[in-house]
Amino acid sequence: MSIHTLPDLGKTAGKTPGTAPSTAPVNLPRLRDMAGRGERITVLTAYDATFARVLDDAGVDVLLVGDSLGNVVQGQTSTLPVTLEHMTYHTACVARGRQRAWLVADMPFGSYEAGPAQAFDSAAALMRAGAQMVKLEGGGVTAETVRFLTDRGIPVCAHLGLTPQRVHALGGFRVQGRDDAAAAVLRTDAAALADAGAAMLVLELVPSTLAREISAANPGMLSIGIGAGAGTHGQVLVLHDMLGLMGSNGGRRPRFVRDFTRLPGSADDAPGLSVAGAVAAYVAAVKDGSFPDEALHGY
Ligand code: KIV
Repeated sequence: MSIHTLPDLGKTAGKTPGTAPSTAPVNLPRLRDMAGRGERITVLTAYDATFARVLDDAGVDVLLVGDSLGNVVQGQTSTLPVTLEHMTYHTACVARGRQRAWLVADMPFGSYEAGPAQAFDSAAALMRAGAQMVKLEGGGVTAETVRFLTDRGIPVCAHLGLTPQRVHALGGFRVQGRDDAAAAVLRTDAAALADAGAAMLVLELVPSTLAREISAANPGMLSIGIGAGAGTHGQVLVLHDMLGLMGSNGGRRPRFVRDFTRLPGSADDAPGLSVAGAVAAYVAAVKDGSFPDEALHGY
């Protein structure tokens, strides 16, 4: 199946893909090949070398050095205080710990919005630190920047839906694209970003049907959902959230998060899985289609 055909993800739900995880380094062609075969892409955030190694060993396909480090590492209430210097430091730490996984680094607030030239300088700093792809938030207004970077050999991941760097403009952390007008804007933005060359798209807090539709409409751009249902090419969670530490959300567990240290149905006081065990459970659940469960985690 070509990347231009969105796989029927429902067909592989509940089944473990037949091939053993490869130890070859993950790259964009391999990620596209996985998506084309209907194998879901697993993504987790990582901020340091030790966790990068644990995630890599457990077979996570993509490590995202998210600016969520502002919340979970720095104890901030938003990602806005995170600087390019913070991001390059943590990207270099993660790069030293990984061997196989593809490494994406977030462009922090204020490091790309002024225009393509500023974005190129910031992206270059992250690539020098070890990133293989940079992620930036925002819709059609960022398309010119996405094209500028991709034309210069920098793979770009876009980010639509709930974009935490715009939390004040959005009025809080809430599901985006619920009404027809907002959904239409997201569809148009996604098409513009795909046309500009974005190779990957994070869809955060978007109704499942809309995320599925956007994924199908832009098959050359790998869609990675967080709170966006099961119809995307892959899934991402903040590491601390899926380990039950809830650092990114002021101690509350959002609906779309599953605590992978707990076996489904186990008592609250039952012994939990190790970090490596929880990450392996996440990889297995995303690959076999049991996470996310639309009824529990979707909008
Ligand atoms: O910063 C981050 O961790 C992210 C994910 C939530 C996608 O952008």
